[in-house]
Amino acid sequence: MNKNKYYNIITYGCQMNEHDSERLAGMLEEMGYQHTEELADADIILLNTCIIRENAELKVFGKLGELKKYKRENPDLIIGIGGCMMQQDEPVDEVYKKYRHVDLIFGTHNIHHLPNLIKKIEETRERVVEVWDEEEGLIPDLPSQRDSDHSAWISIIQGCDNFCTYCIVPYVRGRERSRPVNSIVQEAERLAEEGVKEITLLGQNVNSYGNDLDNEINFPKLLEALNKVEKLKRIRFMTSHPRDFSDELLLQIKNLEKVANHIHLPVQSGSNKVLKEMNRGYTREYYISRVKKIQAEIPEAAVSTDFIVGFPGESEEDFEQTIELVKELNFDMAYTFIYSPRSGTPAARRDDQIDEKTKKDRLKRLMDLQNKISYDKNQKLIGSTQEILVTGPSSNDPEVYEGRTSTNKICFIEKNKDLIGELVKVRIEDAKSWTLEGTVI
Ligand code: 5AD
Ligand code: SF4
Repeated sequence: MNKNKYYNIITYGCQMNEHDSERLAGMLEEMGYQHTEELADADIILLNTCIIRENAELKVFGKLGELKKYKRENPDLIIGIGGCMMQQDEPVDEVYKKYRHVDLIFGTHNIHHLPNLIKKIEETRERVVEVWDEEEGLIPDLPSQRDSDHSAWISIIQGCDNFCTYCIVPYVRGRERSRPVNSIVQEAERLAEEGVKEITLLGQNVNSYGNDLDNEINFPKLLEALNKVEKLKRIRFMTSHPRDFSDELLLQIKNLEKVANHIHLPVQSGSNKVLKEMNRGYTREYYISRVKKIQAEIPEAAVSTDFIVGFPGESEEDFEQTIELVKELNFDMAYTFIYSPRSGTPAARRDDQIDEKTKKDRLKRLMDLQNKISYDKNQKLIGSTQEILVTGPSSNDPEVYEGRTSTNKICFIEKNKDLIGELVKVRIEDAKSWTLEGTVI
């Protein structure tokens, strides 16, 4: 008798990884596996890992240890680990040697080989390690098992060529490879036919989209093509590199009605010295002028950013430059990170690392300031009308529903099943640093 087979995927890290996990799930579903929330019921457990900061790695090793008990209870269970961490030799060695209950190790470039790798394990019952160094270009289009019926991610460019000196991504995700425009538009059309209202275009640097393709396509032109997809209501994208954020792109965001009013533009630091040492390719003044132009051209747009505090050699004066930049630009939101040395990157080799206490202290000062700015900005929205795409019950409180504004702010509304997947107008009644509350009008 054929028993139902179940899988579970545990994902760490960014939206790229979330989307890769959807594709891993899509392949497993095609193989006849069904999703289960219960790890104890799973026949396959996959970990899709992240290596961007040390705490991401620590979480993965912790989880691997925890999984041992499931293997003990069910020796047929297949445990696999893939993602960015497995593109580096050291963690692969460590997993292979110390976590004997792991059956499969794979990388970011061969996720489409998952079915073959699993079949190999099923047939031989031997451990399989297959990590590629990229040679084979783009990962082909794969089926996705999406969580949401109304929002979907579309990968438009893989890899990164920027080599910021702190960042491990170019080493684990490879060089920039753009996906052909037709394949992106076709995917968007198919998703829209299936009822998807909102797409988010993904890439480490979406603004370099098309640089490696032969035709005349670039990111603003891609947005224009996608704006024509009927039934699609909203187009989001991330991440933009400030150096490549062109006026042409700004105008498209302003003029194309489906492109959301949200720009995520990581600055990392407000100090020219630090920016140079990070190899970011722009100055503080250039960045400020870009954001001011966005704010002048599209006053309703929200700008968010990323910061790293405690980069090697960052002095108190450097950090104060960051604080001043935050005060000047009034970001809607910021993700703030403590610098984490990543083995193999130039910044990790420096001998002027900042001590943990200073890093934590700077993080707190920056977060306190940004939280206050975000709070004040959101308070000003009270009384305004916003359009939100309702996604369903809030993860914290299922009695409340949530959706996002065009500016990417989370807005809670009253529970109403009929609104899921709808774009609705709400009046903002209350606001905190990270969330809004509204009533449907
Ligand atoms: N340490 C801390 N933060 C990092 N980021 C990237 N690499 C590191 C690192 N080594 C942050 C950057 C980037 C975001 C996705 O993660 O701010 O924009
Ligand atoms: Fe990392 Fe810089 Fe590329 Fe972003 S642009 S992925 S921070 S190397």
